[in-house]
Amino acid sequence: MAAARGEFSSRFGFLMAASGSAVGLGNIWGFPTQAASNGGAAFLFTYLILAFALAYPALMAELIIGRHARANAVTALQAISPSKNGKLFGLVVGFVGITTVSFILSFYAIVSGWMIAFFIDPMARLVGADSVSAWLTNDAVLRNGFFVVVFMMLTVWIISAGVKDGIEKWASRLMPSLILILFLLIIYVLTLPGAMEGLKAYLLPDFSRVFDPDLLVSAMGQAFFSLSLGVGTMLIYGSYIPKHENLPVVGGLVAVLDIGIAVMAGMLILPAMYVALANGVPIFDDGGGLIAGPRLIVSVLPALFNSMGFVGIFVALAFFALMTIASLTSSISMLEVPVAYSVEHHGIGRKTSAIVLGALITIISLVIVFNFDSLFDLVVSYTTEISQPLLGLAFCLFGGWIWNRNEILEEIKQGSPDAESGLFWKVWPFYIKFICPVAILIVYFQ
Ligand code: TRP
Repeated sequence: MAAARGEFSSRFGFLMAASGSAVGLGNIWGFPTQAASNGGAAFLFTYLILAFALAYPALMAELIIGRHARANAVTALQAISPSKNGKLFGLVVGFVGITTVSFILSFYAIVSGWMIAFFIDPMARLVGADSVSAWLTNDAVLRNGFFVVVFMMLTVWIISAGVKDGIEKWASRLMPSLILILFLLIIYVLTLPGAMEGLKAYLLPDFSRVFDPDLLVSAMGQAFFSLSLGVGTMLIYGSYIPKHENLPVVGGLVAVLDIGIAVMAGMLILPAMYVALANGVPIFDDGGGLIAGPRLIVSVLPALFNSMGFVGIFVALAFFALMTIASLTSSISMLEVPVAYSVEHHGIGRKTSAIVLGALITIISLVIVFNFDSLFDLVVSYTTEISQPLLGLAFCLFGGWIWNRNEILEEIKQGSPDAESGLFWKVWPFYIKFICPVAILIVYFQ
């Protein structure tokens, strides 16, 4: 416990790590397809408002609490609670967060494993290993289990190296590559026949849907998942931010990067789907909606890449590299939550913690792989639709009601001495106290 805590060595490092956490399958896969099936730009519009008005304040609550307490969620939430009941509540919320994020990682690792398999597939085809290629791309328990283990080993390996030499180092390498690949793919796909149809489907708003309760619920869930909120991920990353950093600014940059990359991803995925349509690949399901679930990434897009001939191999390679990077920078932020707790609270070494906890989560993943039809959707909806919004609500209560307001201000002032007269301090306290909890409750009970 006495060992020095890790810290990010630069603002860039923190931004890459935190936006790496935020930018994941949720942005590149979830956001574009949700937008497509929920009124195109109408969803985009609602999402932008909810993300800035609700998710950003909640993100700030986590970052401020984390940096103040310089500890994992359980310790931090207890430390900021003055009363005994508050401390108990902190303990419960911290633990539910750790459990929730571990289950999120257990399903995330399965999907990420598919991404690795599809990333290796173009290389197998390049060298003419057709049977390997068939094994990689056919949905089978053995393949899924194998790649869950590979993906979790990578995650554990980065987390064992620590905050600066693991998380920061890898995020700083991977995130710029992700942004570059994303841009190149967008430019290429937009030149193909059919792409403009997709861009229209994405950007032409169907405003009749803006107040549709389903759309609101989807947009809020998407915003919370995308900013990795509620489970202590951003809290623990916040705890590694140096005291001289201006929190409202760095938090704002993370939100802008996350939202910006989601919006950009829409300009890749939807045009790509309509290019696939133009190449004869079916993109609508039986109900007439766009194919959005797992089939989109593991069947529609690969069919598109196959229809492109030789270049398709390289496009596939780039696309699945993008997906693998996005997954990995997110999964490390998930595993860091239980690992930081185990290191700080129980004094267990980082490496041992990472291996043991990583192995436990891998076992849960494998159980899901073996019972995919009955467990996968269940775990996804329990964690992301029930647990995460409620935890988000709890964090708002800590930031708005439980933690002393002056202490919050003091914490923000460390990196921004004029914070008291700034816009953030005029708006945020009211927001986190009233608007966020009420809005989360309303949307939740829809
Ligand atoms: N935000 C990531 C994505 O969009 C996933 C993620 C990382 C996450 N850490 C999290 C989701 C914590 C929920 C909670 O894919």
